[in-house]
Amino acid sequence: MTDIYDPRQPEIMADPYPAFRRLRAEEPVHWSPVLRGWVLTRYRDVRAALFDPKLSADRITPFMASLPTDRREALSGLERMLTRWAVFVDPPDHTRLRGLINKAFTPRAIASLAGPIAAVVDRLIDDMLANAARHPEGEIDLIADFAYPLPATVIARILGVPEEDIFRFRDWSDDLAAFVGGAQATPDKYARPAQTDVIGALIAAEEAGRALTEDELVATAVLVLFAGHETTTNLIGNGMIALLRNHCEMAKLRARPELGESAVEEMLRYDAPAASVTRVAREDVVIASTPIAKGDRLFLMLNAANRDPEIFPDPERFDVARDGAQNLAFGYGPHYCVGAPLARLEARIAFQRLLARIGDFRLSDEARLAWSDNLVLRGCPTIPLTLTSIPSPAT
Ligand code: HEM
Repeated sequence: MTDIYDPRQPEIMADPYPAFRRLRAEEPVHWSPVLRGWVLTRYRDVRAALFDPKLSADRITPFMASLPTDRREALSGLERMLTRWAVFVDPPDHTRLRGLINKAFTPRAIASLAGPIAAVVDRLIDDMLANAARHPEGEIDLIADFAYPLPATVIARILGVPEEDIFRFRDWSDDLAAFVGGAQATPDKYARPAQTDVIGALIAAEEAGRALTEDELVATAVLVLFAGHETTTNLIGNGMIALLRNHCEMAKLRARPELGESAVEEMLRYDAPAASVTRVAREDVVIASTPIAKGDRLFLMLNAANRDPEIFPDPERFDVARDGAQNLAFGYGPHYCVGAPLARLEARIAFQRLLARIGDFRLSDEARLAWSDNLVLRGCPTIPLTLTSIPSPAT
């Protein structure tokens, strides 16, 4: 069974779903020698694990502890920050931290961003149409020209980072994602724009007389910056690929823009940008009759869970009008994504405006669609599209 799921194989990177199907059916709690951890693929097991207090979200402390002293010292700045990221903190500290972060991400604060998001979307579409008009084949790159700058601009605005810095985010967050260059993501960089909404709200947030410490504040600003853009970029990218491969669904959404919300939900279910999350067993546990030892790592495959036929009828079908169980794309339980309402709002506005303003999208070259080599962040760094029958940008 060990050959079923080797995430290093390019064909598995491109399409992990056949392997997930077999794992779910044949070995839903699978020991992966490549990942040196347990791979969980059934919806009910993944969801229960996300809620299980016996599983810790802190994978930074054991990782750092496993490093030789000199390397650990070199990464001490990064360790100081990452151990304060809500996503890696367990209760009771997590409960306090999360309560404070929630105060900055209220539904009202997010809803008030709809207008500014639509303005950014329309500006990017104008630029994209102008680029396409200049290109001999009308080609653009959906990622570079649209899906990357949109969430980066929105997050920059929320955090008060100057817009001209947004293209530097990618390098910084790539460094973080690759877990190298600890000191490069200079935390001060994010402490400065303290006058803005989220940072201001974080500073003001207080619960039972306790506010965020300065370290927690800086760590949270960096977490929001990191968590809030590449994932949303890939939601738009993966969603567009799903529409391109399912022309009838694209036509349906174009004809019925009110399906925007269910379409984005289906994009999240069908091919989510955060493909998996990791936990570490705090004690010996048994999951679906499989004994798991204290200290073992578990990879909760959200994308496999989201195609579990026990939960989603006809799960391999992409259906923009699908209704039913909640997908796990934003996780579940205490660590459920803080930014889910923002990501959903950005994606809905993005697809509604793209389909309203651009007549036709074609993938210029399927062969250039390379899926990134990353177990967690699923997406294509480049999506070359040819825009045909472009109506006037004023539409
Ligand atoms: C499509 C876009 C996004 C996806 C798929 C996504 C996915 C996730 C997932 C799966 C988790 C849970 C991790 C775990 O259980 O270990 C999470 C947590 C988190 N996300 Fe997102 N996210 C997205 C967008 C955003 C945005 C836009 C923001 C901020 C503006 C954000 C901020 C966070 C934060 C702060 C956490 C940690 C919450 C906690 O630990 O309590 N995310 N996200």
